[in-house]
Amino acid sequence: MQKGGVGKTTTTVNLAAALAEMGRRVLAVDLDPQGNLTQHAGLDPDTITPTLYDALKAEVDGGTGDVRAAIVATREGFDLLPSQPELSLVEVALINTLSRERILAGLLDSVAANYDFILIDCNPSLGLLVINALTAADSVLIPIQTEYLAARGALMILSTIETIRRKRLNPRLTIEGILLTMADTRASLTRDIQQAVEQQYGGGIRIFSTVIRRSVRFAESAAAGRSLIAYDPRSAGANAYRAVAKEFLIPNS
Ligand SMILES: Nc1ncnc2c1ncn2[C@@H]1O[C@H](COP(=O)(O)OP(=O)(O)OP(=O)(O)O)[C@@H](O)[C@H]1O
Ligand SMILES: [Mg+2]
Repeated sequence: MQKGGVGKTTTTVNLAAALAEMGRRVLAVDLDPQGNLTQHAGLDPDTITPTLYDALKAEVDGGTGDVRAAIVATREGFDLLPSQPELSLVEVALINTLSRERILAGLLDSVAANYDFILIDCNPSLGLLVINALTAADSVLIPIQTEYLAARGALMILSTIETIRRKRLNPRLTIEGILLTMADTRASLTRDIQQAVEQQYGGGIRIFSTVIRRSVRFAESAAAGRSLIAYDPRSAGANAYRAVAKEFLIPNS
């Protein structure tokens, strides 16, 4: 949750593609009205229909939403639950909805058995959509732009997670780990930062040992509507996300 993007969408699409490549059944959920994940997976959020919006809108209107009609298979090997810009209207309407924090959890329940992993890409502001994601999730993966790590509030999400647990919205929510993204190539800097996180936030939080370095290939692949895994399978960035997927599957690997 920092201005300018920390790599949430890039991480969602490439982790989803890497896990799919490893034979896992993955659903990627675009919970951001900007629709960047939808675009990154090769679809147009301005024209695609139905989307997650339709299912949430049905719930907000007092009916029963169903995400199954909106899920599409992408050429990336994972399924996508796309977004559209009107999702921002739903976020406002959710305020007056019964069990407003649990709507997404309820919608995803009906498809959860079809997947090994469901990855939810969040928008950068802490509103009811993000609260819904945190209520639906088993764990949170936190990408951090490496050079901003020292900034105050860079990890404000940690206190939000604590609140979600305390208010019993999702007492079992865990922190998957912190992923350092957009890093400088100097390895020593990265090590310093890893130490700083451990000092500031304690040893209880995993920091992925794979660090995602800065590369223009990421923006190129996004513009092409592909994951970097598909766009340039042998690139350093693609291999880095494959390594993240391995760490994700087998902690301490
Ligand atoms: N490792 C990287 N190196 C260079 N550029 C990157 C890297 N990762 C992502 N980018 C680029 O940085 C921009 C922001 O990344 P991304 O969209 O993944 O961030 P985000 O956290 O989802 O942003 P938002 O908060 O707006 O949703 C994009 O143009 C993306 O292509
Ligand atoms: Mg994004």
